Amino acid sequence: MFTHMLWFEELPSTQDFLKDKSLPFGTVVVSNRQTRGRGRYGRSWHSQDGGLYFSFLLEDMNNLQELPLVFGLSVCEFLESLGVVPSIKWVNDVYVKGKKICGILVEKSKGKVIVGIGLNVNQGSFPKNLQATSMLLASGREYKCVDVLLILTDYILKNLDLFKSKGFLALRDKIKARLLFLDQEVIIYNDPPVVGILTDLSEKGELVITTAEGSKKIISGELTLRGFGLS
Ligand code: BTN
Repeated sequence: MFTHMLWFEELPSTQDFLKDKSLPFGTVVVSNRQTRGRGRYGRSWHSQDGGLYFSFLLEDMNNLQELPLVFGLSVCEFLESLGVVPSIKWVNDVYVKGKKICGILVEKSKGKVIVGIGLNVNQGSFPKNLQATSMLLASGREYKCVDVLLILTDYILKNLDLFKSKGFLALRDKIKARLLFLDQEVIIYNDPPVVGILTDLSEKGELVITTAEGSKKIISGELTLRGFGLS
């Protein structure tokens, strides 16, 4: 169980709240809206009413690059329990029918780890430039954000326990089975870009790409299907 929960009507960012305050590990901070919601690469995270925006405070750990996948799996298992079919877009997104439903941000600050989750719950529409969907759009039903949070945190805590006690390998197959673009030709926009078939997920959560020059393990970068723009 998480140790404390703080729920706000509006915050600049639940990530920044946990960064700035001294709160016990296990604290969850939730906000109905964020005025400065942040995503990866300094992007802003659209945080209108209807979504669930929350951050988890965890103790520092070594294998941080695997953590977004552990949270992504938890979000997938939760959505699957509602009949929605999600995929994990490595490394920190959850997609449904080609559109993003959830983004995960893992940050390290002053000996603590803060994991932020933005899950689109009851939004009926999004700005056109966002290829986004919500639980409402995917299932035709509205949800109480408090119920979503409580059930989703059960999945998160179950998978975090397994991750801490048994390691990433205990979860790897479940994550691989949900990987978006598995066995398809992809590009990772690194310098230089890597082009090849996404064939596997390594025991450390890296993407395994089979390229013309052989197999390559990718630890970071933006993944997209070949022939499509950045998504
Ligand atoms: C991404 O897709 O790049 C990650 C998005 C993470 C958004 C969440 S919403 C709750 C928490 N607070 C923030 O400011 N960001 C994260």
